[in-house]
Amino acid sequence: MRFFVLYVLIPFVMLFPSVMHGQVKTLNIVYTGGVNGKLEPCGCSPKTDFGGVARRAGYLTEHRKTLSPYILVDAGNFLDKDTPQERLKAEAMLKAFSIMKYDAAAFLKMEKEFPYSFFSGLLKKYKIPVISDMPRYRQSISTKRDAFDVNVSVNPMNYQKGRLNVLLTDQPIPEIKHLKGWDVIILSSGEILEEPLKANGTIIVSGYPKGERLGILTLQIDSSGEVLEFKHRWQALGKDVKEDVNVRKALKEYGAGVAGLLKGAGKPLAEISYLGVSKCGECHQPFVESWKKTRHAGAFSSLERAGKSGDPECIKCHTVGFGEKGGFYSAKTTPMLTNVQCEACHGYGREHLLDFSKPVQPVAEYVCLKCHIKSTSPDFNYPVYLEKIKHK
Ligand code: HEC
Ligand code: HEC
Ligand code: HEC
Ligand code: HEC
Repeated sequence: MRFFVLYVLIPFVMLFPSVMHGQVKTLNIVYTGGVNGKLEPCGCSPKTDFGGVARRAGYLTEHRKTLSPYILVDAGNFLDKDTPQERLKAEAMLKAFSIMKYDAAAFLKMEKEFPYSFFSGLLKKYKIPVISDMPRYRQSISTKRDAFDVNVSVNPMNYQKGRLNVLLTDQPIPEIKHLKGWDVIILSSGEILEEPLKANGTIIVSGYPKGERLGILTLQIDSSGEVLEFKHRWQALGKDVKEDVNVRKALKEYGAGVAGLLKGAGKPLAEISYLGVSKCGECHQPFVESWKKTRHAGAFSSLERAGKSGDPECIKCHTVGFGEKGGFYSAKTTPMLTNVQCEACHGYGREHLLDFSKPVQPVAEYVCLKCHIKSTSPDFNYPVYLEKIKHK
C-alpha cells in the first residue's frame, strides 16, 4: 500500500508541481506586435490570406468565454510610415483596438513617426490605453483581471514586485535577454519566434509579422504570483474565422476615406504617357484577343468585387502605371488604364507609335516581379506563369 501511494503520488506531483502551492490559476495573455500597418490581407492568394483586424476581433468575440480571464495587448509597431493613407489606417486600427478592448497598446518605433497632435484626439475618442516612452505618455499601465494584478510597461526598469510583469518592446533579443524581473516580454521587432524563449526566468514571445496569427500565452500562476508553467499557441486567422461586424464597419469607413484621398488630390497628370489597350488594338488586335483570355484583363474587376478599386495600395498592381507620370489615376478619370494591360509588360507605347521600328521594352522576369511578389503571388514561377499568359 505504501508503495502504491508513492508510485501514484510522486509522478503526479512531478507532473503538476502546482498542486504543492495551493491555489493555482490560469491567465491568458493574448497578443499582437509588429503588425506594420496590415489592416487586412489583400486576398491576392489563398496562401497568404491570413490575419486582419476583422478576423482578429471576430475570433475574440467568439472565444471570449474560453479565453477568460485574459489580457489583450499590442506590443507596438502596428503602424507603417506616416503618410495620408497610413493616418487613415491608424484611425481604423485604433478603432479596432477599442472594439476589441485592448488592455494596452505600445507606441514604439513606427508610432513615434507620427506627431503627438495626430494621436491626441484619437486616443481620447477611442479610449486606447497607450504606453510609450515618448513625453506626455504613460510608460506603464496596471490592469486587474480576476485575482491577477498585471503591470504592463514599455520601460525595462519599471517592473514591480508582487505583480505580474509584462514588458512590451521592439528591442532585439540579445538586448533584452539579460533583463530581470519580467515574467513575460512581448516583442514587436518583427523577429519570428515560433516557440517562446526562456531566459532568466522570463518568457519571451514575439508578435507574428503582419498580424497573420494571434499569439496566446497561457500562464499557470500560484497564489504568490509565481508563474509555474506556461503553454503557447498560435491562432491562425484564415478565411474560416468569422469577422466581427463592427470592425468590418470600421474598415468600410476606412475604405471610403482612402477613396477620398484620390478625389481630394486634384486632377490626374495632364499628360497621359500610356495609351491603353484600345490604341494597341488598332494594329495588334489578335494580341488583344489573347490578352483578354488572361486574368490580367480582369484585374480591376477583382478590386471592384473586393470594394478596393479606390485603394492606392491595391491599384498599383491591378492597373497600368499608377503613380507614374501619365499612368492610371482613378477609374473615373483614366478608365482606359484599368487592368494589367499591354503596357504593364511592354512599357508605354508613345515612342513606339512615333516609330514602330523602335523596340519596345523586352519582357523578362523582372517585369513580372514588380507585381508578382511573395505576399501577392507565392506560387509565382516564371516559366510556368509565362506559359499561361503567352499570346497564342
Ligand atoms: C499604328 C499601329 C500600331 C499601334 C497603335 C501599336 N503598334 Fe506595336 N507594332 C506596330 C508595328 C507595325 C510593329 C512591327 C514593327 C516591326 O516589326 O518592326 C509593331 C511591333 C510591336 C511589338 C513587337 C516588336 C518588338 O519591339 O518586340 C510589340 C511588343 C508591340 N508592337 C506592342 C505594342 C503596344 C503595347 C502597343 C500599344 C501601346 C502598340 N504596339 C501599338 C504597330 C503598332
Ligand atoms: C502590373 C502588375 C503585374 C505585372 C507587371 C504582371 N502581372 Fe501577372 N498578375 C497581376 C495581377 C493583379 C493578377 C491577378 C489578376 C486577377 O485575377 O485579379 C495577375 C495574374 C497573373 C496570372 C494568373 C495566375 C493564375 O494562377 O492563373 C499569371 C499566369 C500571370 N499574372 C503571369 C504574369 C507574368 C508571366 C508576368 C510577366 C511577364 C506578369 N504576370 C506581370 C499583376 C501583374
Ligand atoms: C504587389 C502587387 C499587388 C498588390 C499591391 C495587390 N495585388 Fe492583388 N494580386 C496581385 C497578383 C500578382 C495577383 C495574382 C496572384 C497569383 O495568382 O499568383 C493578385 C490577385 C488578386 C486577386 C485575385 C484573387 C483570386 O484568386 O481571384 C484579388 C481579389 C486581389 N489581388 C485583390 C487585391 C487587393 C484588394 C489589394 C489591395 C489591398 C491588392 N490585390 C493588392 C498583385 C498585387
Ligand atoms: C503579362 C505581360 C504581357 C502583357 C500584359 C501583354 N504582353 Fe505582349 N508579350 C508578352 C511576352 C512575354 C511576349 C513574348 C512572348 C510571346 O510572344 O507571347 C509578348 C509579345 C508581344 C508581341 C510581339 C510578338 C512578336 O512577334 O514578337 C506583341 C505585338 C505584343 N506582345 C502585344 C501585346 C498587346 C497588344 C498587349 C495588350 C493587349 C500585350 N502584348 C499584353 C507579355 C505581355
